[in-house]
Amino acid sequence: MYVVPGASCRALSEAVAKSLGAKVARVELKTFPDGEVYARILDDLTGEDVVVVQTTLGNDRLLELLLLLEAASGRDARRIVAAVPYYAYSRQDERFQTGEALSAAVVAKSLGLWADGLVTVDPHKDHILDFFPGDAVGTSAIPELAAHFAAQGVDLVLAPDAGARGRAAEAARLMDVGFDHLEKTRLSGEEVVMRPKELPVEGKTIAIVDDIISTGGTMAKATGQLFDQGAKAVYCAATHGLFIGGAVEKLTNAGVAGIVATDTIPSSHAVVSAAPAVVRGVQEVFAKKTKKAVA
Ligand code: R5P
Repeated sequence: MYVVPGASCRALSEAVAKSLGAKVARVELKTFPDGEVYARILDDLTGEDVVVVQTTLGNDRLLELLLLLEAASGRDARRIVAAVPYYAYSRQDERFQTGEALSAAVVAKSLGLWADGLVTVDPHKDHILDFFPGDAVGTSAIPELAAHFAAQGVDLVLAPDAGARGRAAEAARLMDVGFDHLEKTRLSGEEVVMRPKELPVEGKTIAIVDDIISTGGTMAKATGQLFDQGAKAVYCAATHGLFIGGAVEKLTNAGVAGIVATDTIPSSHAVVSAAPAVVRGVQEVFAKKTKKAVA
């Protein structure tokens, strides 16, 4: 088995390969002066199972993933799995307004032109996996995030909204503490409101757990509300830390005790490895009968 590392996931690819006992393929990746991206796989992949690991934050990284999948196919790989730790465009999973493009489907179907299997970590909504034409697995890094908080003395886990409740519930179960959710309404890409909700947070250490921290607006609003209700300390944790614009500053100004993300997107706050989650997903997808395994 080979792991093909995309530019966004070199360290994560190494960790995944080590855990799977796979070789790391040598690749040549570059951007031409006119902005076009280029990808080449230098190893012979004939008859090999291949996992291409690439987070798709940024359109160039998405295109590079497509090029690497096509290159793996051109190298006569046996089965090809696209492991996409952070799956961009997953929040455009419906036509919220008439005439909108169904972006999550466009990405999934494009990957399916060359990938037999798809693995992603904590997808925004599980149903985006159904857009992929082959076997798709949504795995979760919540066990790894929960383990990180084992020493922090967290009393309560909160989800910022009802939609994120399942992940918070799982984190709380693994941490053996209670959980609840806040009442968030999104007004725009940058603006959210939190409806007041009475919670038993006075003097407590809270971990807010979400799938994504993007602008930090959600976490900052939630943190403010928890401090207003007397919380002692608030940690903000998410699988995917995009930290757009001044997100980290916003959270720091809100007084959070810590910002924790996984390395699906590398950053100084990506202190938890998503490699075990990716590996679980890859093993699960290869255990399924992908079309080439059946053929
Ligand atoms: C939205 O439903 C997601 O689960 C996150 O809550 C959201 O993407 C976070 O965005 P931001 O950090 O910009 O508030």
